[in-house]
Amino acid sequence: VLAIWHQLTKTEIPELAKCSVLMRERSRVEETIHAMQRAGVGNLQVISDFDMTLTRFAHNGKRVPTTHNILDNRLLINEDCTKKIRALLNTYYPIEIDPSRSAEEKLPLMVEWWTKVHELLIEQRIRKDMLAQAVKESSAMLRDGYKVFFDHLAEQQIPLLIFSAGVGDVLEEVIQQNHVFHPNVHIISNYMDFDQTGVLRAFKGQLIHTFNKREGALSHAAGLTELQGRPNVLLLGDSLGDLTMADGVSEHENILTIGFLNDQVEERKESYINSFDIVLVKDETMDVPNAVLRHIT
Ligand code: C5P
Ligand code: MG
Repeated sequence: VLAIWHQLTKTEIPELAKCSVLMRERSRVEETIHAMQRAGVGNLQVISDFDMTLTRFAHNGKRVPTTHNILDNRLLINEDCTKKIRALLNTYYPIEIDPSRSAEEKLPLMVEWWTKVHELLIEQRIRKDMLAQAVKESSAMLRDGYKVFFDHLAEQQIPLLIFSAGVGDVLEEVIQQNHVFHPNVHIISNYMDFDQTGVLRAFKGQLIHTFNKREGALSHAAGLTELQGRPNVLLLGDSLGDLTMADGVSEHENILTIGFLNDQVEERKESYINSFDIVLVKDETMDVPNAVLRHIT
């Protein structure tokens, strides 16, 4: 199947013919892209995960930090806290990406991970006015081609919903410092709650982790009026949990899902191909999403 090159891939979207691009059903992808193109930009919205989807997984062989890991900076937390957070990462991250466990099985463990880390962060009395500096000092990095992606969506007035189980305040700072926090960007994430003196005292609202995005999507849907009346969705994620991010879109017509497969490639390849329309294997760029968008809009 993967060897069959259709006219669309050859002539219209050459990026889809790269060997890092896997598709279970190429014809479905083509039909969806055509349907979205016919419906036009006014019917389109983009829903994207943040960590390891809009940001790179690795750069020069080194892992790029998630929004949580950006907080690992002496300006914000002490050495003891760093050690504890790293120990939790070493315990729970392998569970998060374990292909042999179901999402149901992972769910309570993810709640445990996020809750423990958030408690540790609150103990550190993190200061709001230090976040920008911590992001500057970090090696946070958006995927190559990110500027084309964000700028194009802004120019076409296509809403971009960034749906992240990371830390919203840090996420905003990352896109701000990269000059792509445009007015069409909407964010659902875990936001910090600071007291009057600017010290972290809690996290706001319902906790969002990798495997409860569906509930978050449903509860926020009504509030996101800019996204209503746009039944076509381009969804980007790096976790199978990200596939539920569009569950709040009522009366959706066409959904095209793109999954970045960054880690544990051989173990997870089959489940990713069965779950996402397009799977990008160890691709640190936005080239494919950008090519699809260029074609639709
Ligand atoms: O933006 P996204 O939803 O991808 O953010 C969640 C990611 O952050 C998870 O994939 C998880 O691996 C990572 N994480 C982390 N440290 C934590 C909790 C989650 O790096 N304490
Ligand atoms: Mg992610």
